[in-house]
Amino acid sequence: MQVQEMAKKTVADIDVKGKKVLMRCDFNVPMDEDCNITSDDRILKALPTIKTILASGGALILMSHLGRPKGQRNEKMSLAPAAKRLSELLGQEVIFIEDCIGPETKAKAQSLADGECMLLENLRFHKEETIKDKAAKEDAQLRQAKDDFAQQLANLADVYVDDAFGTAHRDNASMYTVPVLMEGKPRVIGFLIEKELRFLGEILQNPERPFVAILGGAKVSDKIGVIENLIDKVDRIIIGGAMAYTFLKGRGKSIGQSLCENDFINKGQKLLNQAAEADCEVVLPVDHDVTRELKAGTPHRTAVGDIDPGYQAVDIGPMAIKAFSKKIADAKTIVWNGPVGVFEIPPFDRGTKAIALAVAEATDNGARSIIGGGDSAAAVKKLGLEDRVSHISTGGGASLEFLEGKKFKCLEILDEQ
Ligand code: 3PG
Repeated sequence: MQVQEMAKKTVADIDVKGKKVLMRCDFNVPMDEDCNITSDDRILKALPTIKTILASGGALILMSHLGRPKGQRNEKMSLAPAAKRLSELLGQEVIFIEDCIGPETKAKAQSLADGECMLLENLRFHKEETIKDKAAKEDAQLRQAKDDFAQQLANLADVYVDDAFGTAHRDNASMYTVPVLMEGKPRVIGFLIEKELRFLGEILQNPERPFVAILGGAKVSDKIGVIENLIDKVDRIIIGGAMAYTFLKGRGKSIGQSLCENDFINKGQKLLNQAAEADCEVVLPVDHDVTRELKAGTPHRTAVGDIDPGYQAVDIGPMAIKAFSKKIADAKTIVWNGPVGVFEIPPFDRGTKAIALAVAEATDNGARSIIGGGDSAAAVKKLGLEDRVSHISTGGGASLEFLEGKKFKCLEILDEQ
């Protein structure tokens, strides 16, 4: 059964009064060099669940990862700034604990009063958090290490809540092993995951047509699964970003120095044939913004069709912007994942901005639109278009895997309605 078909119990279905509640959130927020949070979106989106638990008299123990510290303590990846930001948003103290396990953490958790909230330090400061389940199955020592770590977390609470949609595609200890070890106790999802699953699930199950997918980003290899899964579901796939050049090279176009995954050229052509057979239109850019060097302020020009040697595509061109926008305008359902140009270096963000606007306009005209996390979400936010799209997912990799039709193992084990 697909995750989206299952109705999971949420925090609204259980009584947390007087209980210790261990909640996994995704506070993997972007930070600048000085560890200032540059977007608190993921913290904001966890608030409904957090507030509900606190208002219902639960003693709340929050846990999360931040970045990829590879099992080492790294002050640049401390969750202390997230605790501070959460305190400000809640208007109450969030006790910050400098380790997610150990005797001190246990003692603090035990003394936590109902309605109080604490945040544990980055789970990934311990290498056991990210031991893959497959590796743990094959190696008894790794399994033991992952289980011991998870058991210490599981021992902290009476209830497990998962509201970390952005991490739902991972089998990290806190996401999977902890709820496995807490079998027999309530194990539910939070409101953020509920909302994400509803939006993504509904859009795939009951799309109003035309259903258009817009895919961008650097690598075809990252998006193969999504394209394969969407071919039978959508009416149109618009492809931009560097990944388009692997397809265009396969079609015999000269792509100059543009990024290309040569190992995936054949697979790309197979996907195009598969799409044609399924009556799914694939739209590739007909012109490109090209440059000799990928840096800000460098000269750039439009190339129509082929790209000269020595030049690389950094954005879709004006004709492609027009064509893509037209193909988005009549859509009634839209999913978008990945920028269509080098969004972080203006003016190569022009195409991505135009797509964001086209999606917003289609949404104004009644389409339902879902923006996958990461750069496409950043583009929509940068343009102040958040309120003109239906849903911006907090999950980059997670929303992609959902669109690939993959199951989220960590959610499958949680309590059903
Ligand atoms: C994300 O930002 O996509 C999630 O927090 C997952 O992070 P990860 O890719 O490091 O597991």
